[in-house]
Amino acid sequence: MKLRELTPADAPRCAELEEVLFPGETPWSSRIFREEMAQPFNFYLGVEGAIEEPAPVKLLGYAGIGMMGPAADPEFEIHTIGVDPAAQRRGIARMMMDNICHIADLKDAPVFLEVRVGNDPAIGLY
Ligand SMILES: CC(C)(COP(=O)(O)OP(=O)(O)OC[C@H]1O[C@@H](n2cnc3c(N)ncnc32)[C@H](O)[C@@H]1OP(=O)(O)O)[C@@H](O)C(=O)NCCC(=O)NCCS
Repeated sequence: MKLRELTPADAPRCAELEEVLFPGETPWSSRIFREEMAQPFNFYLGVEGAIEEPAPVKLLGYAGIGMMGPAADPEFEIHTIGVDPAAQRRGIARMMMDNICHIADLKDAPVFLEVRVGNDPAIGLY
């Protein structure tokens, strides 16, 4: 598994995962991902790997955060986080969350997020 920063070239795969992970909940399109990734105060990271050897390496998880507020006293908001259903419960989301929180810790800044009541996997993760 490899953690890396995402680029607009990853937008189609992120959108593909969103459609599976958020059916009927207005999943983000490829265009929205591209626009969000282009914003200077947003940061998108992801984990790539193979679900099973020798399956091809692909993006298995993505997470996006935005930095808001004054530069001297910023705060972070998690925009989205998702993991390919075939790769869940392997610590991928935890790896991404740890790194997001590390970025916020470096700035001694709080991290906010919204989660739907009843989304037990996400509540457990947070
Ligand atoms: C939430 C989500 C990102 C978790 O991804 P993941 O890679 O499977 O999570 P991890 O393997 O890193 O699990 C970390 C912790 O989260 C919690 N967790 C993850 N899946 C869980 C589940 N199905 N039920 C309960 N807790 C769960 C556990 O506390 C877990 O720690 P543990 O494995 O030591 O028990 C994934 O389920 C997902 O993509 N869900 C759909 C999209 C979504 O709802 N995103 C959040 C929107 S707010």
